[in-house]
Amino acid sequence: MLIDTYGRVATDLRVSLTDRCNLRCTYCMPEEGLQWLGKPDLLTDDEIVRLIDIAVTSLGITEVRFTGGEPLLRPGVVGIVERVAALAPRPQMSVTTNGIGLKRTAAALKAAGLDRVNVSLDTLRPDVFKTLTRRDRHKDVIDGLEAASAAGLIPVKVNAVLMPGLNEDEAPDLLAWAVEHDYELRFIEQMPLDAQHGWKREGMVTAGDILASLRTRFDLTPEQADERGSAPAERWLVDGGPHRVGVIASVTRPFCAACDRTRLTADGQIRDCLFAREETDLRAALRADAPDEEIARIWRLAMWGKKAGSGLDDPSFLQPERPMSAIGG
Ligand code: GTP
Ligand code: 5AD
Ligand code: SF4
Repeated sequence: MLIDTYGRVATDLRVSLTDRCNLRCTYCMPEEGLQWLGKPDLLTDDEIVRLIDIAVTSLGITEVRFTGGEPLLRPGVVGIVERVAALAPRPQMSVTTNGIGLKRTAAALKAAGLDRVNVSLDTLRPDVFKTLTRRDRHKDVIDGLEAASAAGLIPVKVNAVLMPGLNEDEAPDLLAWAVEHDYELRFIEQMPLDAQHGWKREGMVTAGDILASLRTRFDLTPEQADERGSAPAERWLVDGGPHRVGVIASVTRPFCAACDRTRLTADGQIRDCLFAREETDLRAALRADAPDEEIARIWRLAMWGKKAGSGLDDPSFLQPERPMSAIGG
């Protein structure tokens, strides 16, 4: 079990498969991209599967989410999913993606054993998409979403970050579209995890802003408190249901007290929190031929020291050195 000194138990493992991405969202990375990890630094497919095996057999992990950068850029992603699906106990498996690769991979991912996907899409307007992501690929994301639904990777969730002056007026349109297509839409407050360190609290669209905007067109009823569990999204029934909309308010309504996550970076470092400033090196142990029990021990120790919260409200808050795209969200 991965327990910390506050009694929280991590059952959800987020595995970053690559730090690379084929978009350049302005809230995430600069136009020129970043200094990518080199091949020798990356965990191999075998190393990733071995760590997930240890996590599910010895550490109580029941859910595995593959993230990036953009996880579908990793050539071995379908094979990794297939091998993880064969583990006992078999974890729930999902991918968080920008959606571009789904047209190509959705059916294969489903056949390999993937349960569902979360797709990032911030706007319904191709021109705004191009400004926001610096790439003209709106149609590829829409096609990817359709491919995911058609393949049965459901419920398909859509993540949207609203930015002032760009797409902040789109919340109601996005929700109407999501309801029509049966996607579960969640709005995410922008977090200080951009590589450029340009985040400002004043420049952020808050959960309060988003809810006020949605209520101009929809009737929202809060979900029962006991339905949330450790999910980062607070959810509301839209016009009486059955569709729901979520808000992930990491900044204005943090949910750290219920956190059930542990993270593995593409270069084999354990992060006990999205905002952690320190990491624990599992790759070195792996490559020094440590036995499974030793790796499990290092992982337990890494999570034991998890802090109470993100520290976002502390005056001394410092952004983690690793940007969002290399942490995996
Ligand atoms: P579901 O199980 O489908 O609800 O997944 P999820 O919402 O946890 O995953 P997803 O990868 O779609 O993440 C959505 C947003 O939640 C991203 O912006 C993540 O950065 C954020 N998020 C995920 N885990 C954490 C966390 O532990 N802390 C905080 N503050 N935000 C998180
Ligand atoms: N703040 C909030 N969400 C972000 N994402 C990427 N960068 C940020 C940020 N700085 C979102 C992506 C994706 C999810 C994994 O995290 O849009 O949906
Ligand atoms: Fe890529 Fe995701 Fe960062 Fe956008 S937010 S540039 S899709 S890693």
